[in-house]
Amino acid sequence: MPRVFSGIQPTGELHLGNLLGAIRQWVVDQDTHDAVFCVVDLHAMTAPYDPASLADATRRTAALLLAAGLDPQRCTLFVQSHVPAHTELTWILNCVASFGELRRMTQFKDKSGGQESVSVGLFDYPVLMAADILCHDTDRVPVGDDQRQHLELARDVAQRFNHRFGETLVVPEPAIPPIGARVMDLQDPTSKMSKSADSPQGTPLLLDPPDVLTKKIRSAVTDSGREIRYDPENKAGVSNLLEILSVVRGTPIPDLEASLAGAGYGDLKSTVADAVIEYLAPVQERYAALEDDPARVDEALALGAAKASSVADGVLRRVRSATGLLTRQ
Ligand code: TRP
Repeated sequence: MPRVFSGIQPTGELHLGNLLGAIRQWVVDQDTHDAVFCVVDLHAMTAPYDPASLADATRRTAALLLAAGLDPQRCTLFVQSHVPAHTELTWILNCVASFGELRRMTQFKDKSGGQESVSVGLFDYPVLMAADILCHDTDRVPVGDDQRQHLELARDVAQRFNHRFGETLVVPEPAIPPIGARVMDLQDPTSKMSKSADSPQGTPLLLDPPDVLTKKIRSAVTDSGREIRYDPENKAGVSNLLEILSVVRGTPIPDLEASLAGAGYGDLKSTVADAVIEYLAPVQERYAALEDDPARVDEALALGAAKASSVADGVLRRVRSATGLLTRQ
Protein backbone atom coordinates (compact mmCIF):
# COMPACT_ATOMS: atom_id res chain seq x y z
CA MET A 1 0.00 0.00 0.00
CA PRO A 2 1.31 3.51 -0.74
CA ARG A 3 2.38 5.41 2.34
CA VAL A 4 0.56 8.61 3.27
CA PHE A 5 1.95 11.02 5.87
CA SER A 6 0.44 14.04 7.53
CA GLY A 7 1.19 16.20 10.52
CA ILE A 8 -0.90 18.32 12.83
CA GLN A 9 0.14 20.97 15.35
CA PRO A 10 -0.60 20.23 19.02
CA THR A 11 -3.03 23.03 19.76
CA GLY A 12 -5.11 20.70 21.93
CA GLU A 13 -8.22 22.22 20.36
CA LEU A 14 -9.34 20.88 17.01
CA HIS A 15 -12.24 22.49 15.19
CA LEU A 16 -14.92 21.35 12.80
CA GLY A 17 -12.82 22.43 9.80
CA ASN A 18 -9.94 20.16 10.90
CA LEU A 19 -12.31 17.21 11.18
CA LEU A 20 -14.33 17.68 8.00
CA GLY A 21 -11.42 19.00 5.91
CA ALA A 22 -8.65 16.60 6.87
CA ILE A 23 -9.06 14.14 9.72
CA ARG A 24 -12.14 12.48 8.26
CA GLN A 25 -9.99 11.60 5.24
CA TRP A 26 -7.21 10.29 7.51
CA VAL A 27 -9.68 7.87 9.05
CA VAL A 28 -10.51 6.54 5.56
CA ASP A 29 -6.82 6.43 4.58
CA GLN A 30 -6.19 3.83 7.30
CA ASP A 31 -7.84 1.20 5.10
CA THR A 32 -6.34 2.17 1.77
CA HIS A 33 -2.84 3.33 2.70
CA ASP A 34 0.02 2.67 5.02
CA ALA A 35 -1.07 5.72 6.99
CA VAL A 36 1.29 7.69 9.24
CA PHE A 37 0.12 10.66 11.34
CA CYS A 38 2.29 12.83 13.51
CA VAL A 39 1.56 15.38 16.24
CA VAL A 40 4.25 17.93 15.43
CA ASP A 41 5.29 19.26 18.83
CA LEU A 42 8.70 20.42 17.57
CA HIS A 43 6.97 22.66 15.04
CA ALA A 44 4.96 24.18 17.90
CA MET A 45 8.24 25.39 19.43
CA THR A 46 9.02 27.65 16.47
CA ALA A 47 6.75 30.39 17.85
CA PRO A 48 6.50 31.61 21.45
CA TYR A 49 4.65 28.98 23.51
CA ASP A 50 4.02 27.95 27.10
CA PRO A 51 6.28 25.06 28.19
CA ALA A 52 3.89 24.24 31.05
CA SER A 53 1.11 23.31 28.63
CA LEU A 54 2.87 21.77 25.61
CA ALA A 55 2.87 18.15 26.86
CA ASP A 56 -0.79 18.36 27.79
CA ALA A 57 -1.77 19.94 24.48
CA THR A 58 0.15 17.21 22.66
CA ARG A 59 -1.65 14.43 24.52
CA ARG A 60 -5.04 16.13 24.05
CA THR A 61 -4.48 16.46 20.32
CA ALA A 62 -3.55 12.79 20.08
CA ALA A 63 -6.63 11.85 22.16
CA LEU A 64 -8.85 13.89 19.83
CA LEU A 65 -7.42 12.09 16.81
CA LEU A 66 -8.11 8.73 18.45
CA ALA A 67 -11.61 9.87 19.37
CA ALA A 68 -12.17 10.96 15.77
CA GLY A 69 -11.46 7.42 14.59
CA LEU A 70 -7.71 6.89 14.16
CA ASP A 71 -6.93 3.36 15.26
CA PRO A 72 -3.39 2.76 16.58
CA GLN A 73 -3.55 -0.79 15.22
CA ARG A 74 -4.41 0.27 11.68
CA CYS A 75 -2.26 3.40 11.38
CA THR A 76 0.88 4.86 12.88
CA LEU A 77 0.07 7.75 15.23
CA PHE A 78 3.01 9.26 17.07
CA VAL A 79 4.58 12.38 18.53
CA GLN A 80 7.31 14.01 16.44
CA SER A 81 9.77 14.55 19.32
CA HIS A 82 9.55 10.84 20.25
CA VAL A 83 11.34 9.90 17.04
CA PRO A 84 14.76 11.59 17.01
CA ALA A 85 15.30 10.67 13.35
CA HIS A 86 13.16 13.72 12.47
CA THR A 87 15.61 16.18 14.00
CA GLU A 88 18.66 14.29 12.78
CA LEU A 89 17.41 14.34 9.20
CA THR A 90 16.53 18.02 9.59
CA TRP A 91 20.20 18.83 10.20
CA ILE A 92 21.36 16.86 7.20
CA LEU A 93 18.70 18.46 4.99
CA ASN A 94 19.70 21.89 6.34
CA CYS A 95 22.94 21.31 4.48
CA VAL A 96 20.99 20.65 1.25
CA ALA A 97 18.29 23.33 1.45
CA SER A 98 19.36 26.86 0.55
CA PHE A 99 18.95 30.07 2.50
CA GLY A 100 17.41 31.71 -0.57
CA GLU A 101 14.62 29.17 -1.02
CA LEU A 102 13.67 29.29 2.67
CA ARG A 103 13.63 33.09 2.63
CA ARG A 104 11.03 32.94 -0.14
CA MET A 105 8.51 30.84 1.84
CA THR A 106 5.32 32.86 2.12
CA GLN A 107 4.38 31.41 5.51
CA PHE A 108 7.75 32.51 6.91
CA LYS A 109 7.27 35.99 5.49
CA ASP A 110 3.77 36.18 7.00
CA LYS A 111 4.77 34.88 10.44
CA SER A 112 8.04 36.77 10.76
CA GLY A 113 6.81 40.11 9.44
CA GLY A 114 6.72 42.79 12.13
CA GLN A 115 8.16 40.47 14.82
CA GLU A 116 10.87 41.84 17.05
CA SER A 117 12.73 38.55 17.22
CA VAL A 118 12.38 35.62 14.83
CA SER A 119 13.82 32.23 15.80
CA VAL A 120 16.04 30.24 13.47
CA GLY A 121 13.51 27.47 14.13
CA LEU A 122 10.74 29.46 12.46
CA PHE A 123 12.99 30.01 9.45
CA ASP A 124 13.81 26.30 9.39
CA TYR A 125 10.20 25.14 9.87
CA PRO A 126 9.88 23.93 6.25
CA VAL A 127 13.04 21.81 6.51
CA LEU A 128 11.73 20.07 9.65
CA MET A 129 8.51 19.45 7.74
CA ALA A 130 10.50 18.05 4.80
CA ALA A 131 12.33 15.75 7.23
CA ASP A 132 8.99 14.58 8.68
CA ILE A 133 7.86 13.54 5.24
CA LEU A 134 11.15 12.17 3.89
CA CYS A 135 12.19 10.08 6.90
CA HIS A 136 9.11 7.90 6.38
CA ASP A 137 9.61 7.13 2.67
CA THR A 138 6.30 8.91 2.11
CA ASP A 139 4.53 8.50 -1.24
CA ARG A 140 1.69 10.97 -0.69
CA VAL A 141 1.04 13.97 1.47
CA PRO A 142 -2.50 15.32 1.72
CA VAL A 143 -2.12 19.07 2.09
CA GLY A 144 -4.28 22.15 1.98
CA ASP A 145 -3.35 25.15 -0.15
CA ASP A 146 -1.53 26.80 2.75
CA GLN A 147 1.02 23.96 2.90
CA ARG A 148 1.58 23.40 -0.83
CA GLN A 149 4.69 25.55 -0.99
CA HIS A 150 6.22 23.61 1.91
CA LEU A 151 5.53 20.32 0.17
CA GLU A 152 7.10 21.68 -3.03
CA LEU A 153 10.20 22.50 -0.98
CA ALA A 154 10.29 18.95 0.42
CA ARG A 155 10.18 17.61 -3.14
CA ASP A 156 12.93 19.97 -4.32
CA VAL A 157 15.16 19.09 -1.38
CA ALA A 158 14.63 15.34 -1.91
CA GLN A 159 15.44 15.63 -5.61
CA ARG A 160 18.55 17.70 -4.93
CA PHE A 161 19.67 15.22 -2.26
CA ASN A 162 19.24 12.31 -4.67
CA HIS A 163 21.09 14.18 -7.40
CA ARG A 164 23.99 14.97 -5.11
CA PHE A 165 24.25 11.72 -3.11
CA GLY A 166 22.54 9.09 -5.28
CA GLU A 167 18.96 7.75 -5.18
CA THR A 168 18.17 7.64 -1.47
CA LEU A 169 14.97 9.50 -0.69
CA VAL A 170 11.44 8.88 -1.95
CA VAL A 171 10.10 12.02 -3.66
CA PRO A 172 6.56 12.56 -2.32
CA GLU A 173 3.51 13.57 -4.36
CA PRO A 174 0.91 16.04 -3.15
CA ALA A 175 -2.52 14.44 -2.71
CA ILE A 176 -5.82 16.19 -3.09
CA PRO A 177 -8.01 14.47 -0.50
CA PRO A 178 -11.07 13.07 -2.34
CA ILE A 179 -13.46 13.81 0.51
CA GLY A 180 -11.93 16.94 2.00
CA ALA A 181 -14.47 19.69 2.53
CA ARG A 182 -13.29 23.27 2.56
CA VAL A 183 -15.00 24.53 5.69
CA MET A 184 -15.06 28.30 6.06
CA ASP A 185 -15.21 30.50 9.17
CA LEU A 186 -18.85 30.93 10.21
CA GLN A 187 -18.29 34.63 10.92
CA ASP A 188 -16.23 35.26 7.79
CA PRO A 189 -17.29 32.69 5.19
CA THR A 190 -14.71 33.88 2.67
CA SER A 191 -11.79 32.69 4.83
CA LYS A 192 -10.94 29.15 5.71
CA MET A 193 -11.86 28.08 9.24
CA SER A 194 -8.67 28.35 11.27
CA LYS A 195 -7.72 28.14 14.91
CA SER A 196 -5.40 31.10 14.55
CA ALA A 197 -8.12 33.35 13.12
CA ASP A 198 -9.36 35.85 15.63
CA SER A 199 -12.88 34.46 15.48
CA PRO A 200 -13.77 32.00 18.25
CA GLN A 201 -17.45 32.55 17.51
CA GLY A 202 -16.95 31.45 13.89
CA THR A 203 -15.02 28.31 14.83
CA PRO A 204 -16.99 25.40 16.35
CA LEU A 205 -14.60 23.20 18.33
CA LEU A 206 -14.92 19.42 18.42
CA LEU A 207 -15.31 19.55 22.20
CA ASP A 208 -17.77 22.44 22.36
CA PRO A 209 -20.88 21.35 24.31
CA PRO A 210 -24.15 21.22 22.33
CA ASP A 211 -25.41 24.62 23.51
CA VAL A 212 -22.19 26.32 22.42
CA LEU A 213 -22.29 24.57 19.03
CA THR A 214 -25.88 25.71 18.56
CA LYS A 215 -25.01 29.28 19.50
CA LYS A 216 -22.04 29.44 17.11
CA ILE A 217 -23.94 27.91 14.21
CA ARG A 218 -27.06 29.98 14.78
CA SER A 219 -25.01 33.16 14.68
CA ALA A 220 -23.32 32.23 11.39
CA VAL A 221 -23.12 35.08 8.90
CA THR A 222 -25.43 34.65 5.89
CA ASP A 223 -26.35 36.97 3.04
CA SER A 224 -29.32 39.28 2.73
CA GLY A 225 -31.29 37.08 0.31
CA ARG A 226 -33.64 34.36 1.47
CA GLU A 227 -33.05 31.51 -0.96
CA ILE A 228 -31.19 28.38 0.21
CA ARG A 229 -28.96 27.72 -2.76
CA TYR A 230 -25.36 26.49 -3.14
CA ASP A 231 -23.50 29.40 -4.71
CA PRO A 232 -20.12 29.98 -3.00
CA GLU A 233 -19.43 33.10 -5.13
CA ASN A 234 -22.54 35.05 -4.17
CA LYS A 235 -23.83 33.18 -1.11
CA ALA A 236 -20.69 32.21 0.81
CA GLY A 237 -22.34 31.81 4.22
CA VAL A 238 -25.29 29.71 3.07
CA SER A 239 -23.05 27.60 0.84
CA ASN A 240 -20.69 26.92 3.74
CA LEU A 241 -23.61 25.75 5.92
CA LEU A 242 -24.85 23.51 3.08
CA GLU A 243 -21.38 22.07 2.65
CA ILE A 244 -21.09 21.28 6.37
CA LEU A 245 -24.56 19.72 6.39
CA SER A 246 -23.78 17.67 3.30
CA VAL A 247 -20.69 16.16 4.92
CA VAL A 248 -22.11 15.42 8.35
CA ARG A 249 -25.35 14.00 6.95
CA GLY A 250 -23.68 12.21 4.01
CA THR A 251 -26.26 13.79 1.68
CA PRO A 252 -25.40 15.40 -1.68
CA ILE A 253 -25.90 19.18 -1.77
CA PRO A 254 -28.62 19.15 -4.52
CA ASP A 255 -30.72 16.83 -2.34
CA LEU A 256 -30.35 19.25 0.58
CA GLU A 257 -31.35 22.19 -1.63
CA ALA A 258 -34.45 20.27 -2.69
CA SER A 259 -35.47 19.27 0.82
CA LEU A 260 -34.87 22.79 2.17
CA ALA A 261 -36.73 24.57 -0.64
CA GLY A 262 -38.96 27.22 0.91
CA ALA A 263 -37.26 27.04 4.32
CA GLY A 264 -35.64 30.13 5.85
CA TYR A 265 -32.05 30.72 6.95
CA GLY A 266 -33.11 30.13 10.57
CA ASP A 267 -34.36 26.65 9.67
CA LEU A 268 -31.15 25.90 7.81
CA LYS A 269 -29.05 26.93 10.80
CA SER A 270 -31.09 24.83 13.25
CA THR A 271 -30.85 21.84 10.94
CA VAL A 272 -27.07 22.26 10.64
CA ALA A 273 -26.66 22.72 14.40
CA ASP A 274 -28.61 19.55 15.18
CA ALA A 275 -26.74 17.56 12.55
CA VAL A 276 -23.33 18.74 13.79
CA ILE A 277 -24.23 17.96 17.42
CA GLU A 278 -25.29 14.45 16.40
CA TYR A 279 -22.14 13.98 14.29
CA LEU A 280 -19.83 15.06 17.12
CA ALA A 281 -21.58 13.16 19.93
CA PRO A 282 -19.69 9.88 19.51
CA VAL A 283 -16.37 11.74 19.10
CA GLN A 284 -17.04 13.66 22.32
CA GLU A 285 -17.99 10.47 24.12
CA ARG A 286 -14.83 8.66 23.07
CA TYR A 287 -12.77 11.71 24.02
CA ALA A 288 -14.29 11.79 27.51
CA ALA A 289 -13.35 8.14 28.00
CA LEU A 290 -9.76 8.79 26.87
CA GLU A 291 -9.49 11.84 29.10
CA ASP A 292 -10.27 9.58 32.06
CA ASP A 293 -7.61 7.14 30.95
CA PRO A 294 -4.52 9.07 29.79
CA ALA A 295 -2.44 5.89 30.03
CA ARG A 296 -4.36 4.51 27.05
CA VAL A 297 -3.34 7.52 24.96
CA ASP A 298 0.28 7.21 26.08
CA GLU A 299 0.24 3.52 25.24
CA ALA A 300 -1.09 4.22 21.74
CA LEU A 301 1.63 6.84 21.26
CA ALA A 302 4.34 4.47 22.48
CA LEU A 303 3.23 1.88 19.94
CA GLY A 304 3.17 4.58 17.25
CA ALA A 305 6.66 5.83 18.14
CA ALA A 306 8.02 2.27 17.93
CA LYS A 307 6.48 1.71 14.49
CA ALA A 308 7.57 5.14 13.24
CA SER A 309 11.14 4.66 14.53
CA SER A 310 11.60 1.37 12.78
CA VAL A 311 10.86 2.98 9.40
CA ALA A 312 12.68 6.26 10.09
CA ASP A 313 15.81 4.55 11.48
CA GLY A 314 16.11 2.57 8.24
CA VAL A 315 15.86 5.75 6.15
CA LEU A 316 18.46 7.46 8.34
CA ARG A 317 20.89 4.55 7.89
CA ARG A 318 20.61 5.03 4.11
CA VAL A 319 21.04 8.78 4.49
CA ARG A 320 24.14 8.51 6.70
CA SER A 321 25.73 6.07 4.34
CA ALA A 322 24.89 8.13 1.22
CA THR A 323 26.23 11.34 2.78
CA GLY A 324 29.51 9.72 3.80
CA LEU A 325 29.23 9.84 7.60
CA LEU A 326 31.43 7.35 9.45
CA THR A 327 29.39 4.38 10.69
CA ARG A 328 29.24 3.96 14.47
CA GLN A 329 30.41 0.46 15.41
N1 TRP B 1 2.98 22.49 8.71
C1 TRP B 1 1.79 21.67 8.79
C2 TRP B 1 0.59 22.55 9.17
O1 TRP B 1 0.75 23.56 9.81
C3 TRP B 1 1.94 20.56 9.80
C4 TRP B 1 2.98 19.56 9.39
C5 TRP B 1 4.20 19.37 9.96
C6 TRP B 1 2.88 18.64 8.30
N2 TRP B 1 4.87 18.38 9.31
C7 TRP B 1 4.08 17.91 8.29
C8 TRP B 1 1.88 18.39 7.35
C9 TRP B 1 4.34 16.92 7.33
C10 TRP B 1 2.13 17.40 6.40
C11 TRP B 1 3.33 16.70 6.37
O2 TRP B 1 -0.51 22.20 8.83
